[in-house]
Amino acid sequence: MSEMAKLELNGEVFELPVITGTENEKALDISKLRASTGYITLDRGFKNTGSCQSAITFLNGEEGILRYRGYPIEQLAEKASFLEVSYLILKGELPTQAQLDSFEEDIDHHTLVHEDMKRFFEAYPAKAHPMGILASMICSMSTFYPESQDPNRSPEAVDLTIKRLIAKLPTLAAMVYKNAVRHPFMYPKNELGYIENFMYMMFGMPTEDYEPSPVIANALNKLLILHADHEQNCSASTVRIVGSSQANLYASISAGLSALWGPLHGGANQAVIEMLEMIEKDGGDLDKWIDKAKDKNDPFRLMGFGHRVYKNFDPRATIIKEACDDILGELGIEDPTLDIAKKLEKVALEDEYFIKRGLYPNVDFYSGIIYRAIGIPTEMFTVMFALGRLPGWIAQWKEMLDNGDPIGRPRQVYVGESARDFIPLEKR
Ligand code: SDX
Repeated sequence: MSEMAKLELNGEVFELPVITGTENEKALDISKLRASTGYITLDRGFKNTGSCQSAITFLNGEEGILRYRGYPIEQLAEKASFLEVSYLILKGELPTQAQLDSFEEDIDHHTLVHEDMKRFFEAYPAKAHPMGILASMICSMSTFYPESQDPNRSPEAVDLTIKRLIAKLPTLAAMVYKNAVRHPFMYPKNELGYIENFMYMMFGMPTEDYEPSPVIANALNKLLILHADHEQNCSASTVRIVGSSQANLYASISAGLSALWGPLHGGANQAVIEMLEMIEKDGGDLDKWIDKAKDKNDPFRLMGFGHRVYKNFDPRATIIKEACDDILGELGIEDPTLDIAKKLEKVALEDEYFIKRGLYPNVDFYSGIIYRAIGIPTEMFTVMFALGRLPGWIAQWKEMLDNGDPIGRPRQVYVGESARDFIPLEKR
């Protein structure tokens, strides 16, 4: 007999099934609530509402736990390659050597984008934000592969679209960068690894040899793994709800890119660096900016701080912070912004306002410092976040379809005008 919860409404008692997750998380199943009681629930921002049952990622915000398919991110970030983790997130199991070799070979086979996509760049303004270009390029891919629009597509066709996306996103991301700096596009060099190939397309030039730095490749590998999935965050939920209408995978990922762009979400890594540079330029008075962040009448927030789920440390931020010191040390880079970030973190974590609200540095607080150290411009930081998050978005989209989840369509509580008759123009 499954566990039941009781709800009393107007003297009547209703029973709600209790769902228990793998890690003993508890949920009230309200799927029949309206039919049996006439009531709906209201939960702005879905802070207390589960949208699905998922087997991809487990996180515990109180204990700072994050696992992909049961494997702790600390072990994956240290020991695995990004494509290995992508395979794990997509398929549910770590690949054997033969499976990984075959996966990598398939990805290599699809790194080129259609030559006609180069013409898109002629139309964008010089200062176009990379995320605006990338979101439209990814949606446009559905027009180059119209068979991907068929909701009755075969599993093989879905698999091909997944491989095309994982293979072509780095190529498109590098093209967006080359277009921004007005350098020639670099074609992929498939004998390189996935991350080294991205570095080659980003920083290589047709006039000289380019040797990807192992230190930078290792740092990027770690960063992409740490961003690979994060259960039902804003952009993953967007991908799920767009996909739930049977929109194709390219359109769903494009919507995820748009959601990620927001400074409260993936756009925070760009906003953190801009904030740290502003504080430095303003004379480095940390107390002034901490007070502004605490002031309800001031729109300023400490970017890179706080999280919907982590009310304790974000385990990814801990790993990235350690990596910051290692990478800047190995590259021999002194970055005053890192010093400001560490001081800001110290001051904030000793402040009652942040402690009481469980506001700690999140994944975006330190990642931008590493991206900048390896030569990636600030406006490309959220593109880097998307490169990491792509396998997670795809896995969430596929799980939603495989589970037969219904089209997402929340209800509302109407608070507008009651019924009233039309007033002719001459009488208004
Ligand atoms: C990501 O969901 C995910 O998993 C996302 C992500 C992923 O991997 O996909 O982890 C990636 O998006 C990380 C978050 C990046 N965003 C930022 O760093 C932007 C700054 N942070 C905030 O805007 C905020 O913390 C959010 C958006 C991240 C979370 O907001 P919530 O959960 O809606 O919390 P809230 O806005 O209700 O804040 C609770 C309280 C409020 O004060 P009170 O009304 O209780 O007095 O904390 C305050 C907020 O004002 N607060 C902050 C703050 N964040 C929250 N005050 C100052 N600075 C901040 N950064």
